[in-house]
Amino acid sequence: MKRVHEIVNPVVMGNEESMYELFAHLRDEEPVAYFDHPDFEPFWVLTRHQDIKHVSQKNDVFINNPRTIIVQRAFEQMLLEQFGTRNGLETLIHMDNPKHRELRGVTREWFKPSPIGRLTPMIESIAKEHVDKMQALGGTCDFVSDISLHYPLRVIMSIIGVEPEEEGMMLKLTQELFGSEDPEQGRGGDLSDRMSVLMDFFAYFKNVVEDRKKNPSDDLASVLANAMVGGKPMEELDQISYFIITATAGHDTTSATIGGGLKALMEFPDQLRKLQEDPSLLKSAAKEMIRWVSPVRHMMRTCTEDVEFHGQKVRSGESLALWYPSANRDARAIANPDSFDVTRDNREQLAFGYGGHMCLGQHLAVLEVECFFRELLPRLESIELAGDPQWVRAVFVGGLKSLPVRYKLN
Ligand code: HEM
Repeated sequence: MKRVHEIVNPVVMGNEESMYELFAHLRDEEPVAYFDHPDFEPFWVLTRHQDIKHVSQKNDVFINNPRTIIVQRAFEQMLLEQFGTRNGLETLIHMDNPKHRELRGVTREWFKPSPIGRLTPMIESIAKEHVDKMQALGGTCDFVSDISLHYPLRVIMSIIGVEPEEEGMMLKLTQELFGSEDPEQGRGGDLSDRMSVLMDFFAYFKNVVEDRKKNPSDDLASVLANAMVGGKPMEELDQISYFIITATAGHDTTSATIGGGLKALMEFPDQLRKLQEDPSLLKSAAKEMIRWVSPVRHMMRTCTEDVEFHGQKVRSGESLALWYPSANRDARAIANPDSFDVTRDNREQLAFGYGGHMCLGQHLAVLEVECFFRELLPRLESIELAGDPQWVRAVFVGGLKSLPVRYKLN
């Protein structure tokens, strides 16, 4: 039975069990499946590791600009009218070479391992604040809404140079943008409500740009506000989009990883013990959590020539959706993919994508996850679930919405 239509169902995709069950079916039975539905432009669904890696590394044959994520036809139309592009924004994710290479170059230095490594003391101190908060909550909390949502947000906002008082608003806007299929998180079911979220982001960062042009400092916002591209100041749409992608891609994803990572440690207590006994495993554990959670569910590419996957022709101009959580559970490429193993060599995982668009913030993300658990684990005497975990209903960036826990911290 064909089940590819379930891929846009936020209820199926917003639940770990049903999502992975669907992916297993698609990998085995429909590895190159055509999705056709009146509300969406059609696209192909790829779920095998090998195919996703292949597409991601051929940036000239499989381009980003025409379509980057799955959105309804009517919304794409609204974006086209408002911004003159079907994607709405013009972020790195929406660009192809040579523009992509040039704009990625603006912040490349900032996101390299060694400058990111210099942020360690700042990140450690934010991690400590959040573990202290967990302790102050007295032994029970909703780990997602009380802790994991706020920690990466504080880190990325410090990096961008946004004041702590404005964080609440930024968190709400990101949830409204990414969780917009979820009745509890979206601004409303209406497409114009979704559009208003984008407009609010735009207005906010326009002010930040103006401020950093007048008062430059050494923060990332100043780098973006004053960037020159091809000898000219960066275009306004590119610039605001750069802010939005850095602000949004940088916290919901990491927060989802920390929440899902803690849940995994509760489900695999032998791995928790191993990590507590040997903190040198923290980096590989952070990477395993990122594989395990794979918070970015998909990205899209569009073919510039006719291609073929497993005997199935895909025509030039047609789009492909690449499902990262599925690639990361594909036993054809990853040994024992359904076991959570903090010692795993995660070289083959695709949670950060692959090729020219591979996540710009990957070193930051790993460091944040590592710093959080480096602070938490030596202080953690016990932890267990105190209620049922709930998932965000989303087909783009997903993760836990609620993780009630009971614990003893010293
Ligand atoms: C792109 C995943 C954290 C900034 C991406 C892509 C994925 C991804 C799958 C698309 C790659 C592709 O198309 O091949 C993740 C995950 C994270 C994370 C799983 C956390 C666990 C971050 C952080 C930042 C960030 C902390 C920092 C600000 C970006 C940017 C891009 C991107 C700017 C666009 C890169 C481009 O198109 O050239 N990320 N990300 N991400 N990510 Fe992340």
